[in-house]
Amino acid sequence: MAETINRQWLLAARPEGMLNEGNFKESSSPIPEPGEGEFLGKTLFVGVEPAMRGHMLETSAYAQTMNIGDVIRATGVSQVLKSNHPDYAVGDLVQHSCGFQDYSVSNGAGAVKVPAGVSPEAVLSVFGGTGYTAYYGMVEVGEVKEGDTVLVSGAAGAVGNIAGQVAKIKGASKVVGLAGSAEKCDWLVNEIGFDAAINYKDADVAKQVQEAFPDGMNVFFDNVGGDVLDIALNNLALNARVVICGGISRYNKDHKVPGPENYFNLVYKRARMEGFIIIDNLHRADEFAGAMTPWIEDGRLKYQVDVIEGFENLPNGLIRLFTGENKGKQLIHVGEPE
Ligand SMILES: NC(=O)c1ccc[n+]([C@@H]2O[C@H](COP(=O)([O-])OP(=O)(O)OC[C@H]3O[C@@H](n4cnc5c(N)ncnc54)[C@H](OP(=O)(O)O)[C@@H]3O)[C@@H](O)[C@H]2O)c1
Repeated sequence: MAETINRQWLLAARPEGMLNEGNFKESSSPIPEPGEGEFLGKTLFVGVEPAMRGHMLETSAYAQTMNIGDVIRATGVSQVLKSNHPDYAVGDLVQHSCGFQDYSVSNGAGAVKVPAGVSPEAVLSVFGGTGYTAYYGMVEVGEVKEGDTVLVSGAAGAVGNIAGQVAKIKGASKVVGLAGSAEKCDWLVNEIGFDAAINYKDADVAKQVQEAFPDGMNVFFDNVGGDVLDIALNNLALNARVVICGGISRYNKDHKVPGPENYFNLVYKRARMEGFIIIDNLHRADEFAGAMTPWIEDGRLKYQVDVIEGFENLPNGLIRLFTGENKGKQLIHVGEPE
């Protein structure tokens, strides 16, 4: 380990409006030494997710907030370089909260060893919070079943593309994605196996959704909220399930956002709308991974990672989620194993 400097990105200012580079500040400190019961990890890959903007605010709805000057908190895969921890040996690859930095010390809390034969990219996408969110949300909250018609918003994103594929594998008769460009829509249909995709930026998106679901949709898996939630609520089938996974259209808004105008269709259609947070179910990770592994092995479930290079691009990787530049799970490749 020739390096002695630990490069870090710190929280410089809490986000107001659109997340931007001014929210981050580059810094450095000496590489820390692991104490008793700790290990030192070298960051290889970092995964980013939209909720991280919320954790940068003064109060976070469900997670610990960061203080100004803290290293930006994020999950990644590190290689253990030194260890005083009985469960982690030098050379192990570990998924844990490494943060936006080259090196981190951990006491093992929340850390999971990367299983042999599984890549860091897979651990940070399909075999991690992203894949489990898609699976749990679609199967257990959405209760998708054979013959269902399904709409997924944010469909070309990390969770969305997997949620749509899970619906197809479970026998949905039609899965339609909403995404923000013609290129993403083509990708969803031609490579990921969605039956159709609609660019939600088109002026006639409400008409296109209605035409795609002439008898209403059985499941709406929502990553976006706002206008697309309202459009979906206007097109529900009887006993539909509306899965509130995320609401990225509101995350950069500092003012209160109005609720969906069409919510009363939940009554007319005897439908259910339910939110969830996957951290409540992470103890079931092995079960979710077990369900998806055969689908990945036989090629029915593809997972897409969007990897950008370099420590210097860590803030940009997070910002890309809000500008719609990512396709699939956004990862940042920070370092090589030693
Ligand atoms: N409930 C849970 O436990 C849980 C767990 C993980 C994630 N989530 C939520 O699930 C959602 C998806 O997360 P992810 O990690 O898969 O992120 P993601 O979808 O990969 O990344 C964000 C994508 O959202 C779209 N987007 C950005 N701003 C938008 C806007 N204003 N309106 C509409 N679309 C916008 C962009 O795609 P386009 O080009 O299509 O606009 C962008 O590529 C997020 O809302 C996240 O907070 C929830």
